[in-house]
Amino acid sequence: MCALTDRIDAKLLERCPKLKVAANIAVGYNNIDLAACTARGVMATNTPEVLTDTTADLAFALLLATARRLTEAEAYIRAGLWQGWHLKQLLGVDVHHATLGIIGMGRIGRTIARRAQGFEMRVIYHDPVRQPADVERRLNATYASKDELLAQADFVILQMPYSPQTHHLIGAAELKKMKPSAVLINSTRGGVVDDAALVAALKAGTIRAAGLDVFENEPNLNPGFLQLDNVVLVPHIGSSTEATRRAMAMTAAKNLVAALAGQTPPNLLNPEAKKK
Ligand code: GLV
Repeated sequence: MCALTDRIDAKLLERCPKLKVAANIAVGYNNIDLAACTARGVMATNTPEVLTDTTADLAFALLLATARRLTEAEAYIRAGLWQGWHLKQLLGVDVHHATLGIIGMGRIGRTIARRAQGFEMRVIYHDPVRQPADVERRLNATYASKDELLAQADFVILQMPYSPQTHHLIGAAELKKMKPSAVLINSTRGGVVDDAALVAALKAGTIRAAGLDVFENEPNLNPGFLQLDNVVLVPHIGSSTEATRRAMAMTAAKNLVAALAGQTPPNLLNPEAKKK
């Protein structure tokens, strides 16, 4: 069983000639070199489904916290700075009726869209794969090009998997395409955002704020973030509830046991490996 912090690559596989299976305790599996595993007949598995709602909840928590400046407001109280109510204190932006742009409309993206309905948000989305018309209707979500989404959204949530194709999907050029009043939420993987460009954009006011659960080079995040008030930072806890982390561990365990028992693991990522 491995975590997303373990790199399962050719170098490791070379040193583990008897390895049969790498059961990741995560839905994202960019820590696993799938081609290298397949080439050596090593099965790889992940933990989809069980963390979808929990991760969508955290993305929404970041959205709300960022819009309403919750961590900044709490720090203000804790620092003993609060001297009383005033009209323009810690003004945030409204979530209700705002436009939410979701990039990456997989399981978690669609679940975030459902959360957004409760806040009467307008939802637009971008993904290489367009959702069927009935799903778009049910989610009240409209397909948009990436540029349209960046230009229109008040909140942009990133929820696509990390891969070489999505590396720095949001960089300086994309941040410039967003509204100066917009908020960026990264609840998927470090690396889909160019963090140095984001720090610069937050400093310059290119966008209003960001909410981040994931970072490049975790846990050594870009120290520029720590200097900024307009960013909400949490340490990769998207799936971290007791029930969900237990369910993820159980899912990984079931995958592992199935693989070792000669069965097909329920969440096998590389069926070709089993044939070897
Ligand atoms: C967590 O980041 C996961 O991919 O499950």
